[in-house]
Amino acid sequence: MSAARGSLLGIEHLDAAEILKILKFARRMNPDKPRPLLKGKRVVLLFYESSTRTRSSFEIAAKALGAHTVLIQAAGSSIEKGESLLDTGYTVRALGADVIVIRHPNAGAPHVMARHIDVPVINAGDGLHEHPSQALLDAYTILRNKKKFQGLQVAIIGDIFHSRVARSACHLLSRFGVKIILCGPPELVPEMRYQMTAARLKMAKKDAIVMHPGPIIRGLELTDDVADGAQARILEEVRNGVPVRMAILARAVGKIR
Ligand code: CP
Repeated sequence: MSAARGSLLGIEHLDAAEILKILKFARRMNPDKPRPLLKGKRVVLLFYESSTRTRSSFEIAAKALGAHTVLIQAAGSSIEKGESLLDTGYTVRALGADVIVIRHPNAGAPHVMARHIDVPVINAGDGLHEHPSQALLDAYTILRNKKKFQGLQVAIIGDIFHSRVARSACHLLSRFGVKIILCGPPELVPEMRYQMTAARLKMAKKDAIVMHPGPIIRGLELTDDVADGAQARILEEVRNGVPVRMAILARAVGKIR
């Protein structure tokens, strides 16, 4: 079976037009002005890994669209008793799930779910693979600050190899010809020398913005003056996660064509 229409498994297979369609729709979404686009639908949030931002903003987004949400986390569910990924999928399908949002430590888990369950599946982060909703909200944040992608240079700094956020961001930004600079240690070393400090930030353009998907590790990745400084857009990213995830959920039930 191929993935149900409306699934969002990664950015890798989305073209620029599809990405722009989601971002444009997100601009019309406002969690303070609920729209009943998912009225009566059941959105299952299936989280095998911890999350604060992704889980809560999908929940806020789903509720703002009139959906009911059901949260299943590994701890405290039958996943702890050894229930398989697919059996959990069949179970939530039997309970009437209309959309499944899944985060899983294994790359490809959402794809397996989507191949077997005829419900739109949204990847909320899978192993080292992709984090598509994060890439979309980051793109949305970039566009709100910079208006267009053309002519931008984006430096992604840190542990790129283990970052699903970086992987999805690279797929997305490359669709629009953004120059991407990847900066990090060639191998993982205990003493990481890529901390963003105020002195290093001064070497970037004056109007450069600092983004981070969160959770931030203060004192290791960013110094406090950068994380809380005027160029930081970290909490704006969090806020933008809601309208973007409203658009992703609306797309899942066929409201974006
Ligand atoms: N950016 C992100 O995925 O954060 P959470 O792990 O808190 O969802």
